[in-house]
Parts: sequence; C-alpha cells; structure tokens
Amino acid sequence: MTIYSDMQSTISDMVQKGKGILAADESAPTIAKRFKAIDVESTEENRRFWRSLLITTPKLGDYISGIILFEETLTQKSDAGAQLPAAAQQQGIVPGIKVDKGKIPLVNTEADQITQGLDGLGERLKVYKEQGARFAKWREVYPIGGHTPSRLGNHANAEVLARYAAICQSVGIVPIVEPEVLIDGDHTIERCAEVIERVQHAVYHALHRYGVILEYTILKPSMVTPGKTHATKATPEQVAEQTIKVLRRTVPAAVPSINFLSGGQTDEEATANLNAMNAGNPQPWELSFSYGRALQQPALHAWMGKAENAQAAQQALFKRARLNGAARYGKYGVGMEKE
Ligand code: 13P
Repeated sequence: MTIYSDMQSTISDMVQKGKGILAADESAPTIAKRFKAIDVESTEENRRFWRSLLITTPKLGDYISGIILFEETLTQKSDAGAQLPAAAQQQGIVPGIKVDKGKIPLVNTEADQITQGLDGLGERLKVYKEQGARFAKWREVYPIGGHTPSRLGNHANAEVLARYAAICQSVGIVPIVEPEVLIDGDHTIERCAEVIERVQHAVYHALHRYGVILEYTILKPSMVTPGKTHATKATPEQVAEQTIKVLRRTVPAAVPSINFLSGGQTDEEATANLNAMNAGNPQPWELSFSYGRALQQPALHAWMGKAENAQAAQQALFKRARLNGAARYGKYGVGMEKE
C-alpha cells in the first residue's frame, strides 16, 4: 500500500455516518487533574485500567470510529492481554496518537501560546505507526484577550500546525488539525466568531503553502460560543448558526470531516450544540465530534477508581457515545437523556 491509500482507508474508517472520535489522550498533568477530581491517584496502572475500560466498552464501535491515545497507551495491554491499539481496532475503532508536546508562551507576545514537539516528529511517527497508530493529533491553543491572538500568534501557530500536518502525511499518517480557541473569558459570541474566522483562515492558508492534502485531514475546531464567564449563554441554534457561518467562510469543501472538541462545555451542551448543527441544511463536510471531557466525564464519575464500577462506567460512556451518535443525524432530544 502507498501512503496515499493508507491515508484514504484511514479516512474512510474514521469518517462514518452516526459516529465520531473519543479523545482519551490527556497528557500526564491533565489526566492527573481529571483523576484528582474523583480522588484517584494517577499511577500508570490506574491510567491503563481507565483507558482499557474505555476501549473495551461493549459495542463502542457502533458510535465511535476513532480514539486518540496518549503515547504510553500505545504499549499498554487490556486485562485480557491485548495491546490497547489492537483492542480498539478489534472494535472497529481506528487508533490514533497525540503527538504534540504541549504549549509554552510565545515570547514577545502578550498572551499567545505556541505548541512544541516538531523536532524529530517524523521519526517518532514511524514508531507510533508500527505500534498501530493510523492518525495523529496536534493542538495549538489560542486564548481570547484584548489583543490576543495577535497577528504574530495567529501566524506562528498556523505555521506549526501546517508543518506538523505535512510531516504526518509524509509517513502516511492522517493529521487531525486542532486549533483550539479557548472558551475562557467573558467575550461575546461575535468576538469568538471573529477570532475563529481569523485563526482558521490562517490555518488553511498555511496548510496550502505546506502542500498538505486536505482530503486526508480532519479539522478539530472549537465551536463558536460566548466566553465561559459571559453574562448569557447562547442557545444551540445560535451556536450552530455562528459556527457554520465561520466554517463555511474558512474550511474548504475538500476537508472530509469536522470533529469538534468540547472544550469545557458540559456533556449535554456539547451534544445539543452538535445536534443543532446537523439539524439544519446539509454542509460540504461531515459535522462530528472528537470529545474528551464531554464523553468521559459521566463515566469517570461512575467509576470513581473502583474496579467493581467498571461496568457502570462503560454504560455511562456508551450512553454519551450513543447520544452524540444521534446528534450526528440531528436526531437528539433532551428527553433521550432520561432513557
Ligand atoms: P475536550 O473535548 O475535553 O476539549 O478534549 C478534546 C481534546 O482532545 C482537546 O485537545
């Protein structure tokens, strides 16, 4: 197989009606924070247990077509002794890998960030591919502030995303391109829309300059919403309208799928917002999910670090996956939360 047919089959397996992606790629500090909230220590065994529980959830593949893993998960095994990427693949879930090394401040800017990890990326990707990863994820982070993102911040982050994506494709790995505009702040939905439009415009301009083949990419953007501490919340219809408007202005139709992050929305908000986007007119790309917290949060609280709660945790994950699956068709209703 050539790298192109590799990437085409990865896209075909990941982009499926009624399905989306589970993000289970929390870095060491982030998973420690999630575990601390349920009073669980972040040991290697606890992380293995948790991620194995997620991956082996019965019938998860009915609604989940891809899972983003963290590096250590690639070499861990399920209780039954299967390598976790193989266990995912067995469920019909494509295993992928987060490859960025986190963010640092972008010097000479007020508050822009920049993500590290490009050095040696091509070599690392070859190893991850041998370990079963078929796609990758890289996240650039854009806080919204008075003068942020700056022109420099916008440009620099787009360059890094495009370099990452081009390197992935050179070894036959599908890149998920994630420019996350943070929900933190009291900004209006209009200000969020303006920032996301500027960010995504720069990202697609850079992807073009670096020769990235858009057909073999997935975009993982933030939804357009008011800031978390803004006085009023937007309805799912307002979020859908503003988000689709910005996407139509910035994302070429060659991109097969747009898989939103949840970014601090509650699980029910994330589902309702996705539903509203799919309830309207058809769009040139699939509108799907790549949720971390919005899929895992109820499951984490059902688990509480106790092996005897594993089944309840899997049921909680399955429920969110199923409801987001319904939202892929615009067929979710809040009433389904009680079923
Ligand atoms: P959230 O859905 O919790 O934002 O996580 C998705 C993700 O992978 C962020 O990089």
